[in-house]
Amino acid sequence: MGQQKITVPKGTKDILGEEVVWWQKVEEVVREMANLFGYQEIRTPIFEQTELFARGVGEETDIVQKEMYTFQDKGGRSITLRPEGTAPVMRAYIEHGLSVTNPRVKWFYLGPMFRYERPQAGRMRQFHQFGFEALGFSRPAVDVEIILVAYLIYQELGLSELTLELNSLGCEKCRPSYLSKLTKFLEERKDNLCANCVRRLEKNPLRVLDCKEEGCQNLFKSPSFPVIEEYLCSDCRNHQFKVEAGLENLGISYQINPFLVRGLDYYTKTAFEVKTGQLGAQDAIGGGGRYDQLSAALGVPGVAGVGFAAGIERIVLLLEKTQQETRPKKVPCLYLSPLDEEGEKQVLRLARELTKWRVPFYCDFADKGLRYHLKKAQKSGVKWVLMVGQEEIERGGFSLKNLTSGSQVFLQEDELLRLLQKEKSLC
Ligand code: HAM
Repeated sequence: MGQQKITVPKGTKDILGEEVVWWQKVEEVVREMANLFGYQEIRTPIFEQTELFARGVGEETDIVQKEMYTFQDKGGRSITLRPEGTAPVMRAYIEHGLSVTNPRVKWFYLGPMFRYERPQAGRMRQFHQFGFEALGFSRPAVDVEIILVAYLIYQELGLSELTLELNSLGCEKCRPSYLSKLTKFLEERKDNLCANCVRRLEKNPLRVLDCKEEGCQNLFKSPSFPVIEEYLCSDCRNHQFKVEAGLENLGISYQINPFLVRGLDYYTKTAFEVKTGQLGAQDAIGGGGRYDQLSAALGVPGVAGVGFAAGIERIVLLLEKTQQETRPKKVPCLYLSPLDEEGEKQVLRLARELTKWRVPFYCDFADKGLRYHLKKAQKSGVKWVLMVGQEEIERGGFSLKNLTSGSQVFLQEDELLRLLQKEKSLC
């Protein structure tokens, strides 16, 4: 009996074919923007000690409570596949003693993250983020810079009709008074809360604000519902004012959303999210904010931080939906068609030369005749096809066909290389 086919694990996917070209495009734009703004790349491990996320992201968050891939390694340590990149970045900053030697750093990263969520379009168990983090900076101008980087990346990718939502979550000084007011308000109306929010009310009342249930939403509309903005201390209020003024100065429009609380507990002051109306329920294509208390949760108080991360799967879904006609194409300049074994040898030798001239090519070792090669080349969209069979070897050169004009010439190697060197920019 045949064995059962093995498929990818639920909530993961292979990225290949035409889709991968979009991924490369996103990565290219991210790297370019990082380079322009002077953010250095950081690569942290895919797995970390579980405690990093429990303390960093927050014990009471959905991520830590329900979504982490946690296991014991063979040495009995509790290990977690990273669900996000900010806590690891802060861990690295502290671990490398940067608060002493180089307290202000700007980093970016790209890579897979893992959350055990219910998979659906745009929500994966292995997904990919790019992220930017500025550590050691407390000025609101850096919050604005981070939002500007995000804004320019989306713009460079051609994504429009996005909404930037902004809120301030206060700080350790002012948030407690808001939380006690919020808790009191909700306690008095507990009967109208959904079961989930009754639980949140005890553990993490701020998360109630994120609830989409009708009963809870109705409570939020009440005129006496406490709004965080009214409870901010003067420092937070001032910070928020300057972030808003900074965005206005750049012409970046935003909407204040007092219910934006984010799913991670480390935020203080600025919190933001970039949303699209084109992806259904999974509408957040990026989010971030300030996290001045994260370092304290990891044992070293006093490191300011602000950053954002964006989900590449969601961005690619959006690009595929809205940018089909500008889909980047990866077509080589030249298609190499060996027609027999001797031809294969020649083609490999030529391949080495072509790399020196930086001419992109594709060798097809299909063991087929001329008709097959021409058809394949035509389909690939390549301009030039080079054939090497017995006749070419006897004559000591190559037949080169221009698939656009249909004309064919016979060339010696040096003539060929010179022509392709000239032509490659047109391919
Ligand atoms: P986050 O909002 O949890 O923030 O994730 C950022 C982005 O990752 C989301 O807006 C979404 O585009 C994408 N994302 C999250 N979960 C999934 C999933 N299951 N499948 C597909 N895409 C997903 C953070 O992770 C923070 N570390 C951001 C940050 C950086 N804050 C400060 N610095």
